[in-house]
This record gives sequence, C-alpha cells and structure tokens, in this order.
Amino acid sequence: MKTTGGMYLLLGLIITTGIFLMSGCSEMKNDFVIPPAETIKVHSQGFENPTAGNFHGNILRNNDWNWSGCQECHGSAPEFTGGFSGVSCGTAGCHVDDRGVAKSIESCNTCHGDFHARANDFVSAAPPRDLSRNRTTSARGVGAHQIHLRGGSNSVAIECSECHRVPTGVFVADHLTPKGGAKVVFGNFSSYETEGADMNANPPTYNADVAGGPSCSNTYCHGHFTGGNNFTPVWTLVGSGEAACGTCHGDVETGNPLPDGHFSFPGIENCQSCHYVTMGNPIAERSSDGTYIIVNRPQHVDGAIHVFGTRRTAF
Ligand code: HEC
Ligand code: HEC
Ligand code: HEC
Ligand code: HEC
Ligand code: HEC
Repeated sequence: MKTTGGMYLLLGLIITTGIFLMSGCSEMKNDFVIPPAETIKVHSQGFENPTAGNFHGNILRNNDWNWSGCQECHGSAPEFTGGFSGVSCGTAGCHVDDRGVAKSIESCNTCHGDFHARANDFVSAAPPRDLSRNRTTSARGVGAHQIHLRGGSNSVAIECSECHRVPTGVFVADHLTPKGGAKVVFGNFSSYETEGADMNANPPTYNADVAGGPSCSNTYCHGHFTGGNNFTPVWTLVGSGEAACGTCHGDVETGNPLPDGHFSFPGIENCQSCHYVTMGNPIAERSSDGTYIIVNRPQHVDGAIHVFGTRRTAF
C-alpha cells in the first residue's frame, strides 16, 4: 500500500507538471520577461503630439512651467538625459532645429516663437506661436511681432527691448509669471522725446483691454513727435493699413494733410525735394499706385529728421 500510494503520488506529480508545462509555458515567458521601457505607457495618448489637448507643452503651461516633477523619471533639467525612463528630450529627436540639431529645452524659442528655428536665432523667440500655440496675427500674443522684428517697407527692424523687459534667462524673476498687458514695457526709442511731444506727461502706453483690440498710444514711432499724428495702431490688425503712409504723420499724396508745420504751396507734395535722403534723389520712387516708397529705410523712423541732406535729432 505504502509503495502504491507513493507511486500514485509520483504519477500525479508527473502528470500535473506535464499539463502545467504544456499549457502555461508561453504565458509564463511573457509574464517574466521585463518589457522595454518604451512599452510602459506612463503618459496618456497625445502627450508627444503638439496638436493634442494633452500635449506635454500644454500640461507644462497649465502647471506654470514647473518641470521639476519630470526630472524624477527623465533626469535632471535642463539636459533631461533620460533618467530611468530612458526618454531624453536631448536625444529623442523632437527638440531639434530645421537642420535636425538638438536644442536645449531652455532655448528661447521652445515655449514661444518658432520651435524649429535655430537656438541662436534670437528674433525667432517672438511669436508666432504664442504661448497658447496661436499663429494668426489676430491673436494678441502674435499680433504685429514679425513686421516689427523683421522690418517692413517703411522701416528697418526694432528690438524686443523697445516693447519688453527682455529676460536674461528662463528662470529669472518676472519672466514666466502671467502679466497680461504689463508685459509690454516701452524702451528708449519708443519713448524718444521731441520738442512737440512731452513723453513724461504722455508716455507711450499699451492699451491692453480696449474695444477694437489692443493698441499702442503715444509712441514716438507711430507719430508722437513734433508735427506727427500721434496715431494709435491696433496690434492685432496686421495688413490692414495700420502703418500705411499717412498714418504716423501727414502725407498729401495719400490724401492726408501735410505733416504739421509744413506750409502748403505748389510742389510741397514732392517730399524728395527736401527729404531726398529718405525719399530718393532727385526723383522720388513710387509704387504702381503712385504712393511713395521709402528708399532709405534705415534713415526713416530712426529718431532723426533728414532734410536738405542733413540729419537733425532735435526737432
Ligand atoms: C513616473 C515617471 C515619469 C514622469 C514623472 C514623467 N515621465 Fe515622461 N515618460 C516616462 C516614460 C517611462 C516614458 C516612455 C514611455 C511613455 O511614453 O509613457 C516617458 C515618455 C515621455 C515623452 C515621450 C512621448 C511619449 O508619450 O512617449 C515625453 C515628451 C515625456 N515623457 C515628457 C514628460 C514631461 C514633460 C514630464 C513632466 C510633466 C514627464 N514626462 C514626467 C516616465 C515619466
Ligand atoms: C519654459 C518656457 C519658456 C522659455 C524656455 C522661455 N520663455 Fe519667454 N516667456 C514664457 C512665458 C510663460 C512668458 C509670458 C509671461 C506673461 O504672460 O506675461 C514669456 C514671455 C516672454 C517675453 C515677453 C515679456 C515678458 O516678460 O512677459 C519675452 C521678451 C521672452 N519671454 C523672452 C524669452 C527669452 C529671451 C528666452 C530665453 C532666454 C525665453 N523667453 C524662454 C515662457 C518661456
Ligand atoms: C512692437 C512691440 C513689440 C516688440 C518689438 C516685441 N513684442 Fe512681444 N509682445 C508685444 C505685445 C503688444 C504683446 C501682447 C501683450 C498682451 O496683450 O498679452 C507681446 C507678447 C509677447 C509674448 C507673450 C505671448 C503670449 O502668448 O501671451 C512673448 C513671449 C513675446 N511678446 C516675446 C517677444 C520677443 C522674444 C520679442 C523680440 C524677439 C518681442 N516679443 C518683441 C509687443 C512687442
Ligand atoms: C520745402 C521743403 C520740404 C518739403 C517739400 C517737405 N518737407 Fe518735410 N520737413 C521740412 C523741414 C524743413 C522739416 C523740419 C525739420 C526740423 O524740424 O528740423 C520737415 C519735417 C518733416 C517731418 C517731421 C515732422 C515735422 O513736421 O517737423 C516729417 C514727418 C516730414 N517733414 C514729412 C514730409 C513729407 C511726407 C513731405 C511730402 C508730402 C514733406 N515732408 C515735404 C521740409 C520739407
Ligand atoms: C510707422 C510710422 C510711420 C509711417 C507709416 C511712415 N512714417 Fe515717415 N516718419 C516717421 C517718423 C517717426 C518720422 C520722424 C523722423 C524719423 O524718426 O525718421 C518720419 C519722418 C518722415 C520724413 C521726414 C524725413 C526723415 O526721414 O526724417 C519723411 C519725408 C517721411 N517720414 C515720409 C514718409 C512716407 C512717404 C511714408 C509712406 C510711404 C511714411 N513716411 C510713413 C514714421 C512713419
């Protein structure tokens, strides 16, 4: 009995092990091999997709750009070399410029501006793309940035510092905190004072929340100077004539009055006869519709009157 019992036990063991081996082998293999990190989805779908609502850029923005928690799995900022997740912003191939060269997460055009521009292209830090990912000029975060920073048909480019206090790094005081209209702080050129315009009494002002769209008043550039029109351009009306000839100061050719202080006499509309440095010599250049072309853009909207070949900064 004892022997038979032992044999049954042995037989039972062999059969059970056999069944176990036959049925469970494949599952067991999957259960015990550690899957590669990229198959563990920690983040929800769309996290890496800029057009998705839960794109990590949006999540970070909503979290006041605080990426300290990300370091636990991705390594220390700003390199984020991968940490235990093995996913690094530096090598994943997403934070790259137009040549495919990797850029620091702290590049000035990461959160705003042209993401794929080169890291050292400073102007590309300006919108479009604003912080809410808008690209159209009717969005206030985008507005007329590009025409100011690249220059237009009437003038050359101006610098960020004419409208902002430019941060010297990402995590400096007063940079990442939402300031609304207070983020526009005018610089020396925008505030340039001439005899006929008291910049202390009427300093340049950004009117953030007014009907018709955000606008700028009392800027030197748009006509707050002796004889100018002190025009109030709307920031978000790009391509709608907000900087047309005759807005900042008069121009008889476009049906506006002459700049204040000019006597009206036959031939006065030939601006080039006195302002030939700016307008062309001896004949003014005009476009097909007859309007003047500024031939010497660096000498126009530069803080000096060019008349009779001289340059006058006091006027
Ligand atoms: C708990 C660990 C952990 C934390 C915290 C974490 N990640 Fe990840 N992350 C991972 C892992 C693991 C992967 C790779 C697998 C995956 O995609 O889920 C990954 C992948 C990514 C990817 C690649 C896209 C993707 O979905 O595969 C991005 C981008 C990313 N993380 C950004 C962030 C940011 C930004 C933060 C902070 C807001 C963050 N992660 C916080 C673990 C983490
Ligand atoms: C982590 C994301 C991020 C990075 C990287 C970044 N910025 Fe910003 N930047 C912001 C945010 C957020 C604001 C807007 C704050 C507000 O709404 O007033 C801002 C606003 C600005 C402004 C408008 C003025 C102001 O202070 O609001 C300038 C100019 C600017 N950034 C320049 C830079 C420069 C230069 C760098 C590189 C040194 C840089 N930014 C990098 C997030 C970033
Ligand atoms: C002609 C003036 C002007 C110049 C020059 C200028 N900005 Fe701005 N900037 C503005 C205005 C106006 C706003 C919108 C403020 C508002 O109402 O929120 C703005 C907003 C911004 C914002 C916030 C965008 C958002 O989503 O809210 C950033 C970032 C910014 N500017 C960066 C720059 C950088 C970088 C430069 C230079 C490369 C620059 N700006 C040059 C006028 C200017
Ligand atoms: C007969 C010569 C003459 C003609 C023609 C002339 N200007 Fe002037 N302009 C001047 C003088 C002189 C000044 C003042 C310079 C100073 O104050 O130092 C001046 C100044 C200006 C100013 C600065 C603002 C002001 O009123 O002082 C502007 C803008 C201007 N002219 C535009 C024009 C335009 C546009 C035309 C053509 C429609 C034109 N001018 C035609 C002589 C002329
Ligand atoms: C964005 C505003 C603005 C617009 C638009 C503008 N001007 Fe001016 N213009 C100025 C300012 C500011 C001055 C004062 C002197 C200076 O800073 O160059 C000026 C001065 C002048 C002068 C005096 C000579 C000089 O350059 O100093 C002439 C002439 C002139 N503008 C012609 C024109 C003509 C023609 C157009 C249209 C094609 C035009 N401006 C459009 C802002 C403007």
